[in-house]
Amino acid sequence: MKVTVVGAGAVGATCADNIARKELATELVLLDIKEGVAEGKAQDMMQTAALLGFDTKITGSTNDYSKTSGSDVVVITSGLPRKPGMTREELIGVNAGIVKSVAENILKYSPNAILIVISNPMDTMTYLALKSTGIPKNRIIGMGGALDSARFRYQLSQHLGASPADLNAVVVGGHGDTTMIPLIRLATWNSVPVTKFLSAEQQQKIVSDTMVGGATLTKLIGTSAWYAPGAAGAALVEAIVRDEKKLFTCCVALEGEYGQKDICLGVPVIIGKNGWEKIIPFDLSAEEQALFIKSADAVRNMNDVLSALPA
Ligand code: LAC
Repeated sequence: MKVTVVGAGAVGATCADNIARKELATELVLLDIKEGVAEGKAQDMMQTAALLGFDTKITGSTNDYSKTSGSDVVVITSGLPRKPGMTREELIGVNAGIVKSVAENILKYSPNAILIVISNPMDTMTYLALKSTGIPKNRIIGMGGALDSARFRYQLSQHLGASPADLNAVVVGGHGDTTMIPLIRLATWNSVPVTKFLSAEQQQKIVSDTMVGGATLTKLIGTSAWYAPGAAGAALVEAIVRDEKKLFTCCVALEGEYGQKDICLGVPVIIGKNGWEKIIPFDLSAEEQALFIKSADAVRNMNDVLSALPA
């Protein structure tokens, strides 16, 4: 297996580090536009191989896409991260041009690659990658829900005094502070609904803290988070390369599922060797359905901004 991570910033490098530690690839390429950064970080990571005991061969490249040739999976993290007070949506103008050119360059050398999109605003960047490349929809996966669901499980674990591994909980909808929908009604602790153990106030706090999970970290750190975003990207790579058929909520192209079309939005999907393989229908309550429609409308408005940008 060959995996490429585009963007050697904090998210890309963390994602690559996780991929190497788990030996998800024999070859791992880190690519960045800043001279020497990808080469340096790749070498730094390779120097952990003797300590950590992995065999993945990591190489770095400054913008030479030929080095990424024949990749099975490509993670796109390129673009500017959020600064404190900024929404993910404010990044659209700059990041759209970057993501479009990255996706096109990648496919020149790896025409069969599965693309995982992390760049923000993630829902719109996933839609852009789908529209601009025209590759089959199953090969384009936006990472948002995988990350937001991990953050939801963290918040639940704190309130319940439970292990996050024992919690089953997903976030659907957009990857935005106001567009994501943590489905607390459906969340379980070893198959028992978590709502049985939490007051209405606690449930509300868990949901709202999950929704601003990224913004809270951006405020504390001064830039966008990277450990959980990088790990979420690597978890998707793992599900693909090991053909795990694991359920994640990811941002994928909807063609009528969940009542939406011509949009990429977070829904439960099965991830395996073909990318996202099927969408799992969850029975949403009327209230959740209304939130989903609202989320789709907001993401669609953002997608419309794309057509106003220079080609
Ligand atoms: C976050 C960024 C990666 O949520 O969107 O931390």
